[in-house]
Amino acid sequence: MVSNSEDNNMIDKLSGVGPATAEKLKDAGYLDIMSIAVASPSELADAAEIGETAASKIIIDARKHANIGDFETGAKLFEKRQQVGHLTSGSKLLDELLGGGFESQAIIELFGEFGSGKTQIAHQLCVIVQLPKEKGGMNGEAFYIDTENTFRPERIVQMAEAYELDPDEVLSKIHVARAYNSNHQMLLVDKVKEYSKDFPAKLLIVDSLTAHFRAEYVGRGALADRQQKLNKHMHDLLRWGDLNNGVVCVTNQVAAKPDAFFGDPTRPIGGHIVGHTATFRIYLRKSKGPKRIARLIDSPHLPEGEAVFTISEIGIRD
Ligand SMILES: Nc1ncnc2c1ncn2[C@@H]1O[C@H](COP(=O)(O)OP(=O)(O)OP(=O)(O)O)[C@@H](O)[C@H]1O
Ligand SMILES: [Mg+2]
Repeated sequence: MVSNSEDNNMIDKLSGVGPATAEKLKDAGYLDIMSIAVASPSELADAAEIGETAASKIIIDARKHANIGDFETGAKLFEKRQQVGHLTSGSKLLDELLGGGFESQAIIELFGEFGSGKTQIAHQLCVIVQLPKEKGGMNGEAFYIDTENTFRPERIVQMAEAYELDPDEVLSKIHVARAYNSNHQMLLVDKVKEYSKDFPAKLLIVDSLTAHFRAEYVGRGALADRQQKLNKHMHDLLRWGDLNNGVVCVTNQVAAKPDAFFGDPTRPIGGHIVGHTATFRIYLRKSKGPKRIARLIDSPHLPEGEAVFTISEIGIRD
């Protein structure tokens, strides 16, 4: 039975789920009752190494207790979709790849190896978000949660000057906090929510989303905890995007692996929690000199494709 307490989302409260099964389910990414309620008996049986009959019983219990939620009309969702804004990147091709730019009410994950341009794009977005709508911006301010100490005001100055903006004014509308560990990183999102009442914030950067998590939660035993925390973090970020009609952009590093170009490059990165919660995933890789290649992966409504852009002193361009 599931109690009506704070933990009523915990899968170990489901009848038929002992500690060992709960552990296997969490490792496989089943972190709450809803994820089990919507699973099929065969996939659950595989994940927990139990029989399909036992899996079915667990699913039935989960469905009794899952908070299935209310329906919204298509009209209401359409209205919400119409408010979605687009933040341009400085590269037309990259914007086109994304169906017109970085969407609000969404998380855009930039992943790729070191030097692939994740931090550069993040900086550039902080400048462009301040431009008016007709110039591809959102007339808003930016938050930057910096976990690797790579935010550089000098870069912002260069990029702002390229748009003939006053660099001091641009810098005064970018709110940067250094996150010292993953818990601190998560707490900073609460701060961002608080401060968003004081000024019109339209962009939230987390650079890097995963570095602290990866360093702190080491080994197989820590995987479930890490995924659970990351899951919560991602949902907090998405909620901020929804509430403020803002763009959330997170970065995620991937080690350079020569064979990753031929196989599925998304496999080794950040676990599937990040991949499933991000609305857009962009895989960045280095090409010759200043050239970079962006590939869109798993978008809900856009075709997969690639765009080439360059990084120079003035920022991201075609
Ligand atoms: N002022 C500049 N002028 C031209 N190119 C620059 C300038 N600053 C940075 N770059 C380019 O950007 C690259 C760094 O990209 P970036 O910092 O975005 O990488 P990243 O994907 O964030 O890497 P990491 O995973 O290490 O954080 C440099 O290798 C260089 O090619
Ligand atoms: Mg970086």
